[in-house]
Amino acid sequence: MTERSEYSATAMASPNIAFIKYWGNINEELRLPVNGSLSMNLDGLATTTRIKFSPVFTEDSLEINGNPIQGVGLGRVKTVLNAIRADAGKPLFAMVSSENNFPSGAGIASSASAFAALAFAAVNALGMRVSTERISRFARLGSGSASRSVPDGFVEWFAGDSDESSFASSIAGADHWNLADCVLVVSDGHKKTGSTEGHKLAASSPLQTARVADAPRRIEICRRAILERDFGQLTAIIQLDSDLMHAVMMTSQPALFYWTPETLRIIESVRNLQMGGLPVAYTIDAGPNVHLITELKNVEQVIKAVKNLDGIIQILRTRAGKGARLV
Ligand code: PMV
Repeated sequence: MTERSEYSATAMASPNIAFIKYWGNINEELRLPVNGSLSMNLDGLATTTRIKFSPVFTEDSLEINGNPIQGVGLGRVKTVLNAIRADAGKPLFAMVSSENNFPSGAGIASSASAFAALAFAAVNALGMRVSTERISRFARLGSGSASRSVPDGFVEWFAGDSDESSFASSIAGADHWNLADCVLVVSDGHKKTGSTEGHKLAASSPLQTARVADAPRRIEICRRAILERDFGQLTAIIQLDSDLMHAVMMTSQPALFYWTPETLRIIESVRNLQMGGLPVAYTIDAGPNVHLITELKNVEQVIKAVKNLDGIIQILRTRAGKGARLV
């Protein structure tokens, strides 16, 4: 039998929303986080990535939504591919083309879905028989949160202290709990400071030590809230965690203020809705847009209550979704 010389595969993965957030690294290169995190994959939003390895190629190439990408973006893809090629023992260059089904201005970072889809496609193209955890470690090298987009549904990323010990795995499948995420988009511009740069500033906030020290307690509460489908506990812990991360961002040097007046207006409105008995919670990533978490049965009521607030450009509706898979 002759050995194959070309290897290809196509995979898709969804972005995720962190309930307990990752902010800061102990190792920037390996993207080893200072604290563990917990997230939910977002159904319906996806990056689809096709990869082809061939001895004919003389370098790696990358195309996103039909546009050739060089520089930092291509560099991060090479980092992930280098680790996978080394493990597979196949020193072949690759052609990568990737498409997002959500607009880049939708306020949802595409790096998590992109690097999860890339790692999943590359590993499968090269015929590697490896675990989901192993693929999540490859994805982590491109973007920390991408490690959480590889496993299914509700996912925990164990911080670890080495490449081997820092990986994500599913704590419950997407069908475990009918949770929805309504993303209130208030800005569709590109953020001023991306998360790769932001992580490097985290340690400069005097609040980061306290945030990190308390993280295992928050993870434990959040994990239990998910497993027991306890929306009240989930609300309290994810809002606290999001506020703690933003307190660190606002007090780092230089300071990172991601919130805008619209962000704060939505937070205030959510707090009022909660006092009126509506089960809805907010959480905010490295940007001004607000994710409203609620149970599917309450989505219409939540959207009706917030849709007329000033400054909302778009509302994206998603729900708990699957991990990375072949297409
Ligand atoms: O994976 P990165 O480098 O894009 O960082 C993600 C940072 C947050 O979205 C703010 C938090 C998180 O855990 O997803």
